[in-house]
Amino acid sequence: MEAFIRGIPKAELHIHIEGSLEPELMFQLAKRNGLSLPFSSVEEVRAAYRFSDLQSFLDIYYVGARVLLKEQDFYDMTWAYLEKAHQQNVRHTEIFFDPQTHTDRGVSFKTVIGGIHRALTDATIRYGMSSRLIMCFLRHLTADAALNTLEQALPFKHWIAAVGLDSSELGHPPEKFVTVFERALAEGLLTVAHAGEEGPPDYIWQALDLLRVSRIDHGVQSTRDSALVERLAAEQIPLTVCPLSNVALRVFDSLQQHNLKQMLDMNLCATVNSDDPAYFGGYVNENLIQVCAALDLSRDDVCRLAKNSFNASFLSDIEKNSMLRELDDYVAGF
Ligand code: ADE
Ligand code: ZN
Repeated sequence: MEAFIRGIPKAELHIHIEGSLEPELMFQLAKRNGLSLPFSSVEEVRAAYRFSDLQSFLDIYYVGARVLLKEQDFYDMTWAYLEKAHQQNVRHTEIFFDPQTHTDRGVSFKTVIGGIHRALTDATIRYGMSSRLIMCFLRHLTADAALNTLEQALPFKHWIAAVGLDSSELGHPPEKFVTVFERALAEGLLTVAHAGEEGPPDYIWQALDLLRVSRIDHGVQSTRDSALVERLAAEQIPLTVCPLSNVALRVFDSLQQHNLKQMLDMNLCATVNSDDPAYFGGYVNENLIQVCAALDLSRDDVCRLAKNSFNASFLSDIEKNSMLRELDDYVAGF
């Protein structure tokens, strides 16, 4: 099963590029930029990665991102993730980035998106890996700040597929961002939102009805609301689930208690993703392998997750069909 999972062609749809920054590269970039970190070694950084909830993670995650200053820094971070993703047979990836984490420190929007986009282009050339970029608004900041970020992004709109919503969920409901999401939709961008990671099912309803999202990021709290489950299943609205993240941030006490299998059994369009792989102990394959073992998922479940990952993506139908054929060939030949 492990070999089957490693080799299966897959898409990753929920990865924060800042969350792929491994401590080794963090130290390298700090040195290159003449910055000091509040840690003395890579081991000390890893030891600090013990979280009690989402906020306790975000506090350290924003500190780590401070080493990113130059276009080349954003390139190097993104390229390191793409190499890893390629090794794990990720054929297509949809990457979140948080411009406000950087622009609020004086780094220009162009520097951020320029470095990320250049790495994505190189991965297409070198690995044939396709990608989309999703720009997230930090929900703990104001709606006006999000609107201002959208304005800064518009000159680069052709590089951005969708806008999203991340950071501290509780107390920052989707309804806070209706105006900026309406504007993004009017500009032809798609929308997604983190909802129901720690927050209540009502935040998922809001994301669907007010922000008109194409996918829900996480959405694990949806199973507490049967009417919501019915809607998500009927409309096959994808959920980008991140099992190792959910355990690291104590959404579930253990992988054995995760509701992924339940979601699949309820005919929800669930996918498996890494969220912030440098912080949560694994990339997409580790997520699949460990959740599969913990929940005793079948080979059919794994195939379904891989199939869902392509169907839930922002690829065109032609691109989806080509990847789904590749998936069928892999399964038939394994
Ligand atoms: N930013 C990075 N990872 C996140 C997560 N899991 N939830 C909300 N915001 C995030
Ligand atoms: Zn996330």
